[in-house]
Amino acid sequence: MKNKKAVVTGGSRGIGKAIVKELALRNCSSVLLTDISFASTPEECAKEIESELGNGTKIFAFKADATSFNDAQATMQEAIDKMGGVDFLVNNAGITKDNLLIRMTENDFDAVINVNLKSIFNYTKAALKFMVSARYGRIVNIASVVGLMGNAGQSNYAASKAGLIGFSKSIAREVASRNITVNCVAPGFIETDMTKKLSEIQREALMKNVPLGRMGSPEDIAKVVNFLCSEDADYITGQVITVDGGMVM
Ligand SMILES: NC(=O)c1ccc[n+]([C@@H]2O[C@H](COP(=O)([O-])OP(=O)(O)OC[C@H]3O[C@@H](n4cnc5c(N)ncnc54)[C@H](O)[C@@H]3O)[C@@H](O)[C@H]2O)c1
Repeated sequence: MKNKKAVVTGGSRGIGKAIVKELALRNCSSVLLTDISFASTPEECAKEIESELGNGTKIFAFKADATSFNDAQATMQEAIDKMGGVDFLVNNAGITKDNLLIRMTENDFDAVINVNLKSIFNYTKAALKFMVSARYGRIVNIASVVGLMGNAGQSNYAASKAGLIGFSKSIAREVASRNITVNCVAPGFIETDMTKKLSEIQREALMKNVPLGRMGSPEDIAKVVNFLCSEDADYITGQVITVDGGMVM
């Protein structure tokens, strides 16, 4: 079973990196991650993950801006050249630029829509070219509970994540006959660089809404992404699975 090939966007750190590692441990013989920036170089990043895994799974890292249509095409070509195919696509790259609408700039609105939503169009379109002819594919898009329930100060982010959910359900219907599934995972409040920016007061307020009483870990998300890619989820498509300690129920 451990013979699949995956592409994960925004995979150099946080939730993306945990997804790369989980797929590489459970279902994949090789994984290609993309990112717009790396702590050192893409090669160093790939080597570091390979040595953390220590199980012989091949990791490739490719510098690509998820907002660029051309970079998405180049990423898929790299995946074909290096791995020989792409079975799983995980659209994980995302950013926040929070502000109340009254203070939100046009640039901050556009930037969040481009990275969180336009990127899904770029990568899904590029990957489907190969998945449709292979008559197999698993696509998982990382949404957010904010896309389901809204959040003051995050109208750009909520719009991007809600948009991503509508996009995923539409594509799930378009490609189901080709044995390609498209699902979303909607994380709640997860411990990564993205949430490090929050103040202690904001954290305490958020934690009051988490019945399980703790922040999630990147691995909590990665396990569900891996499940949706695995053959245990072959009959699941067009769904949004919230992984949020019970915030939304
Ligand atoms: N952390 C949370 O609480 C939380 C909650 C809900 C959803 N999410 C979603 O999970 C995903 C991962 O978030 P995270 O918490 O790991 O954040 P993070 O900031 O730690 O990681 C995001 C990654 O995306 C990359 N990235 C940003 N812009 C990019 C671009 N234009 N092209 C390619 N890569 C780009 C970053 O360099 C980084 O490696 C995002 O889509 C985020 O919206 C996170």
